Amino acid sequence: MRPQPDFLHEFVPGNSRRTLLLLHGTGGNERDLLPLGREIDPNASLLSPRGKILENGMPRFFRRLAEGVFDLEDLKTRTNELADFVTDAVRHYKLAADDIVGVGYSNGANIAASMLLLRPEIMHAATLFRAMVPLVPDKLPDLSSVRVWIGAGNQDPIIPTSETQRLVELLRRAGADVTIRFFEAGHGLTSDDLTAAHGWLKSR
Ligand code: MLT
Repeated sequence: MRPQPDFLHEFVPGNSRRTLLLLHGTGGNERDLLPLGREIDPNASLLSPRGKILENGMPRFFRRLAEGVFDLEDLKTRTNELADFVTDAVRHYKLAADDIVGVGYSNGANIAASMLLLRPEIMHAATLFRAMVPLVPDKLPDLSSVRVWIGAGNQDPIIPTSETQRLVELLRRAGADVTIRFFEAGHGLTSDDLTAAHGWLKSR
């Protein structure tokens, strides 16, 4: 075991068993999603790493060749690295390993989806804002005990609604319980996204 979780990160203790794993978008950092995390779950602990890739100085969680075209080898490596970080952080901060909820925006949502597909043991639920299909694994994992909420923008210039549907279908084929919401929005988050994600998390 590594002595310290090896991503730059923020950790904010909460007063429930749940931990939100906050994964920022391209150009974000480990502090970006802390207010969002607090808003969608006022009681959870917050664990928020900074992506290790730099694209023109902007942090990301994995490399891409162009917008929406991912370096799949790097994505797989980075997904495993992030999953190992979460495992280390669970030990280090004494978190409940069975109550980790991934909360990702854009690039962060894409690596969260990748982690569901490649390392299904890490998260038992996820809220994905503006996500696309990160990769299609050779063998689908068993996600029958995993719940996923996806928030999409019906005018998103980066993610067509058909791509969101493809992600929904992939996760459902793996057995996940998927809720999809389309908002009157583009790629950016709206207060409707946060209200809906808050309601979904509260009902669990
Ligand atoms: C990605 O690279 O993960 C997606 O294109 C979303 C983005 O970060 O712009």
